[in-house]
Amino acid sequence: MAAMSFASIYLRPPEPATVNINYHRPITVLTTKRSIAASFATSSTESAPAAPEKPQIELEFIGPKPGADGKYPVEIATAVSGQKLLRSIMSDNNIELYAAYGKVMNCGGSGTCGTCIVEIIDGKDLLNERTKTELRYLKKNPESWRLACQTIVGNKENSGKVVVQRLPQWKK
Ligand code: FES
Repeated sequence: MAAMSFASIYLRPPEPATVNINYHRPITVLTTKRSIAASFATSSTESAPAAPEKPQIELEFIGPKPGADGKYPVEIATAVSGQKLLRSIMSDNNIELYAAYGKVMNCGGSGTCGTCIVEIIDGKDLLNERTKTELRYLKKNPESWRLACQTIVGNKENSGKVVVQRLPQWKK
């Protein structure tokens, strides 16, 4: 009885393996390491075509006071059109926006302090119109003055160059 049982276990022919194949999906059989590597290389080069580049706005920021050489310092930044406020672009690029009082007392960009003043020297057409907040805070100032926290740089479709005077109130 014990011998029969041993034979039935060890002499039984192997059962065919069952394989689940989804016949609706094409399959690729990779047989060697090289073909697997080639498959990955192919799939990475066949990725979707690159998205077209978004329009960019170039910005130049002129300092309020000349340096030792008598020249006004100029800082440069680039932004995707219509994506950010001027205040954020300046902050992201470590470009000083505020005078001493504004550094400490600014409203953080909520449009309630009026300390983020800049003058647009060139490229005004690449920006949004003055907001109601700006009309309130800047009504006695030149039309070229803006509040950086209210100024959207670009409209997602335009591109070009904007020249900004920092701290125009210092240049009176
Ligand atoms: S940061 Fe206060 S009004 Fe712009």
